Amino acid sequence: MEICELVDKLENTRDLTDSELKFLLEGDYDVEILRSRADIVRQKNYGRDVFVRGLIEFTNYCKNGCYYCGINCNNKDANRYRLSKSEILECADEGYELGFRTYVLQGGEDPYFTDEVLCDIVSSIKSAHPDCVVTLSVGERSRESYEKLYEAGARRYLLRHETASAEHYGKLHPEKMSLDNRMKCLWDLKEIGYQVGSGFMVGSPYQTTECLLEDLRFLQSLSPDMIGIGPFISHEKSVFAQFPNGSVELTLRLISILRLMFPYALIPATTALGTLKADGRELGLKAGANVVMPNLSPTAVRAKYDLYDNKICTGEESAQCVACLGGRVKAAGYEIVVDQGNVKR
Ligand code: 5AD
Ligand code: FES
Repeated sequence: MEICELVDKLENTRDLTDSELKFLLEGDYDVEILRSRADIVRQKNYGRDVFVRGLIEFTNYCKNGCYYCGINCNNKDANRYRLSKSEILECADEGYELGFRTYVLQGGEDPYFTDEVLCDIVSSIKSAHPDCVVTLSVGERSRESYEKLYEAGARRYLLRHETASAEHYGKLHPEKMSLDNRMKCLWDLKEIGYQVGSGFMVGSPYQTTECLLEDLRFLQSLSPDMIGIGPFISHEKSVFAQFPNGSVELTLRLISILRLMFPYALIPATTALGTLKADGRELGLKAGANVVMPNLSPTAVRAKYDLYDNKICTGEESAQCVACLGGRVKAAGYEIVVDQGNVKR
């Protein structure tokens, strides 16, 4: 099949065979054909709109030792921090003034944030800003915990599956973590009624094209509202310190494929993409992404939320980050919308 026919088929049926997908991922063809079609499909569903979510990185304590991650529990050099409830509320207030109507509270799996502590924070944000949506990104918890957090007012949850191949999952994580539990969490979240975001890293160590096919198939079954992907970037204090970074090109191909497979999806142009290439996020938007997540964390802790080396936006104030990203979105030909940014199914 010619590349144009493949892209037609993907747009029209939202699906392709494994070998067709493999060609889109690996093949030698004019990528502009794939990219421009993804941009058209995004335009049909969302116009030129780009949604913003204010990211509040509220703790870098983590009980897990994921091999790719800079804030893994075995990194004794990590400078650990935890924001207090009032610091988190201040970030939310500042974000509100800057126009945000949705926040993402992201952190490591920090046992300090019990259900009681976290529910109190979620409900306090909701009382202070009833017109805002609270998104959580705090890893694997029990179903009961997710239920309590939902009752406290959280409505969205981001939990990347990281890789849908059990074998590959085992190579990225310590033995006590499992893909089964990760997936159980995602299905629980969905059943409870959360809008769910999932996703994976591109070019993580030992990843093959077959792993990526499994990722796409898993996403087809989960049908998440948001799909976040970004290139793997090695961190000097992680197990994978010596592995090469993922490819920006492949990440962009995948964003376009995701846009065509999931026309309604919220797809962020991620910080990792902007870290590996100066205009990475702009290229992500042009390839089909429609969300950006400016950092609202206090400047004093930014550099400490050190998932991978050379992470951008660690020196800027929230307002600077917002202004910078706003300018980038505009220059790329898109427009920031200030609302809750709901998925259009
Ligand atoms: N490179 C790129 N992305 C990473 N993440 C964690 N470590 C890295 C890394 N070294 C991503 C994971 C996680 C998200 C918060 O950040 O996919 O889910
Ligand atoms: Fe944070 Fe540019 S987006 S400084």
